Amino acid sequence: APAPLIDPFGRAITYLRISVTDRCDFRCVYCMAEDMSFLPKADLLTLEELERLAGSFIALGTRKIRLTGGEPLVRRNVMQLIDRLGAQIGQGLDELTLTTNGSQLVKYAEGLAKAGVKRINVSLDTLDADKFTALTRWGKLGPVLEGIAAAKAAGIAVKINAVALKGVNEDEFDRMIAWCGAEGFDLVFIEVMPMGEIGGEMRLDQYLPLSRVRADLMDRWTLTETDYRTGGPARYWRVGETGQRLGFITPLTHNFCESCNRVRLTCTGTLYMCLGQEDAADLRAPLRDGRDDAGVQQAVRAAIARKPKGHDFIIDRDHTAPAVPRHMSVTGG
Ligand code: GTP
Ligand code: 5AD
Ligand code: SF4
Repeated sequence: APAPLIDPFGRAITYLRISVTDRCDFRCVYCMAEDMSFLPKADLLTLEELERLAGSFIALGTRKIRLTGGEPLVRRNVMQLIDRLGAQIGQGLDELTLTTNGSQLVKYAEGLAKAGVKRINVSLDTLDADKFTALTRWGKLGPVLEGIAAAKAAGIAVKINAVALKGVNEDEFDRMIAWCGAEGFDLVFIEVMPMGEIGGEMRLDQYLPLSRVRADLMDRWTLTETDYRTGGPARYWRVGETGQRLGFITPLTHNFCESCNRVRLTCTGTLYMCLGQEDAADLRAPLRDGRDDAGVQQAVRAAIARKPKGHDFIIDRDHTAPAVPRHMSVTGG
């Protein structure tokens, strides 16, 4: 077998995130501008091309693939790709999963379970219907909750991702912990990251350092630190009162780049080696210039050799411009 992917800092790259579309049926205020221009459909890799690239990564030691967007379930015929990748589970791949806004889960939950998806992450920042619509600019909470219920009924473990926003959902953290506890879901709070122009001071106004949030939650909840890991960036505590896990993703207060194991492929075949850096490698040309699988793998290897040490996200009054100009929706987080 070919040698596994090791980056210049000695980190093994075993987790591939694939953004299958940059489009989304919502426009979360911290993620996208209201008026986004999306990639022309002609620039997209086909589902077959995405599958071939994923195959090259698996051959090079990728154990976990997460499909993201935009919203992954709005990509036309996405189940075709999910079924094909699902067939790789146990053949090199350990886990196939998704990060979704939940809006299409009523339709897709059973198909996902059949394809071998055992757990999904659903982005849900509020349980208040009016707030949900304001945050997503037009989304409806009801169908998302129904979708989450459908996933649970299909036997898929659900983890809820909530971006922590000062003055927006901080008054709901207790309610969300209780709701996730009652439903049997793990919950992860995420610090808002300065990616993409979304309107001046908003991120500074809304930024909540999670070290403070956790200290505050400990007044009311019994939180015990665990060494549970998913291969993602969250650190987890056990909530004594509910038995569920509560995770924190803290790119600002506690940088976790030293243990980074992941890279991000976009729907046009661009490979971003770091969420917080612009440097990227084009894999579409190598894919389309007629070379064999070993040649494509060589292009992947060359890209990994450029993976930077990490990001340096900062949010404060002296840093009102985003750390990187591209929006989170390009890479799906
Ligand atoms: P698990 O497999 O469940 O651990 O998922 P995950 O945390 O890897 O993926 P998810 O899509 O749920 O991402 C949750 C949040 O973590 C998103 O806001 C991502 O942008 C953020 N995130 C994931 N990887 C990185 C990373 O390498 N750097 C930074 N700064 N944020 C990341
Ligand atoms: N900062 C932090 N998380 C973000 N997400 C989207 N934009 C941002 C941001 N600026 C989250 C979504 C989703 C995940 C893929 O990324 O809420 O849970
Ligand atoms: Fe869509 Fe997720 Fe971005 Fe919201 S955070 S606009 S649901 S991709």
